[in-house]
Amino acid sequence: MVERDKWGSQLGFLLAAIGSAIGLGNIWRFSYIAYENGGGAFLVPYFVALITAGLPLMILEYGLGHKKHGSSALSFAKIGRKHEWLGWWMPVFVMFGIMFYYSVIIGWCVNYAIYSVNLKWGANTESFFMQQYLGLSEGVGVLGSIRPNILAATAFIWVTMWLICYRQIAHGIERACKVFMPLLFILTLILIIWGCTLEGAAEGLRWYLKPDWSKIANWKVWVAAYGQIFFTLSLGFGIMITYASYLPRRSDLVKNAVITSITNCLYSFLAGFAVFSVLGYMAQQKGVAIDQVVKSGPALAFVVYPEAISRLPFLNNLFGFIFFVTLVIAGLSSGISIIEAMSSSLIDKFNINRGKTVSALCLSGFLGSLLFTTQGGLYLLDILDHFLNQYGLVLAGLLECIIVGWILKARVLRRHINAVSKWRINKLWDFSVKLLTPVILSVIIGLSLWKEFVEPYEGYDMKYILLVGVGWIMFTLVLAVIVSVYPWEPEKLGYEHKPEEDRLIV
Ligand code: PHE
Repeated sequence: MVERDKWGSQLGFLLAAIGSAIGLGNIWRFSYIAYENGGGAFLVPYFVALITAGLPLMILEYGLGHKKHGSSALSFAKIGRKHEWLGWWMPVFVMFGIMFYYSVIIGWCVNYAIYSVNLKWGANTESFFMQQYLGLSEGVGVLGSIRPNILAATAFIWVTMWLICYRQIAHGIERACKVFMPLLFILTLILIIWGCTLEGAAEGLRWYLKPDWSKIANWKVWVAAYGQIFFTLSLGFGIMITYASYLPRRSDLVKNAVITSITNCLYSFLAGFAVFSVLGYMAQQKGVAIDQVVKSGPALAFVVYPEAISRLPFLNNLFGFIFFVTLVIAGLSSGISIIEAMSSSLIDKFNINRGKTVSALCLSGFLGSLLFTTQGGLYLLDILDHFLNQYGLVLAGLLECIIVGWILKARVLRRHINAVSKWRINKLWDFSVKLLTPVILSVIIGLSLWKEFVEPYEGYDMKYILLVGVGWIMFTLVLAVIVSVYPWEPEKLGYEHKPEEDRLIV
């Protein structure tokens, strides 16, 4: 049997897992979601989502990958061949869905890091972003042509990810994350300190954190919190399963899951300080209230923030450069993790060479992203992002809970996790995986679906919503089922880590 790749060290694993979790989603997505959904009060549903879904699922994914000693496809195939499709669907819809536009957004950050050197966006940052940069078409049905700058930056991102993933895990991803993560923390710290010393920063932070308790009575806020937890912790992607499969036999899975989740959420919370202090400064300069300057979605980082950067009192190009480079690093360390999850599943099943697999994946990823480098790309991105996050990830999490909780049996996995970890979990975890989390996730999906029919997402034509949103989910599902039907070499499904037995022998 071919020896499975291994991490060089536990720290290397942790940095890579945290690198996957911390991404574009933590810096601007968290800030505006928190702001829109009750500011400081949003921390309550966010924390509840972390405890009732995030943490139990992180432990589940680590436990599953470690016990079954396989990528997501292999792990689910070992539970039972009829469940294998889920192990494929998770990385497939991220790699051939989310990643298509995620890589383009990292590309925008590359372009903007360069633009910040001479503040190229000028005085009207909105028209710069929408017209000059994106050349936005008149509607979702019109793709227009490919934007050369975006194309070049996106190609650069795919080549960088390819260079990292091409090599074995300990030499590629692990080494990259050992550089990326400390750098990311230092740059973020610089942004926070710099931001908080600006005039008006306190007012910005007050808006960010001011609890609006009336908002959390609204179920939409809870739906947003659960969606954000899945996205930000990279759960339901198949990544954490794969990463845990490269761990040695004795690894404290519970402690690692707690550290990964808490570091990620704390990072989001603190990154919000960097974003809102600067917004507070800008609002003060313009003499308006914060809610007059904040915008949600991509516009926050690419319209509002550049304007704020231009207004900074000194070294504003440096600040802008650091901000966008931070986003690029955060995005890259997430991007490589999904390439790894997808290629690991392919390598496990088809015995193919790592270099060729990664090359083919990066090439197809790049070709898929071309769609989002067009003038109509932003509309597609908006619809796809909404559907894949709101349904894909949450649905994958729900199915994971059911298959692991009821078919593999939560107590079997718990016994394994406790046998290898110093920190232990108890029956509460079984209860969470079997009942609590699946019930909550079903309610979340039900509520979101209901809302979809009452008010079509952002007023888009139902035809496009069905075509792009639902169509994409179906397409990836079919792809996943097709690869899962292909037979395995029998010995591949035989081996798994059984430390509970080791313990009896020792
Ligand atoms: N956790 C990542 C984030 O918050 C999401 C992600 C992971 C996206 C991997 C793509 C690939 O940005």
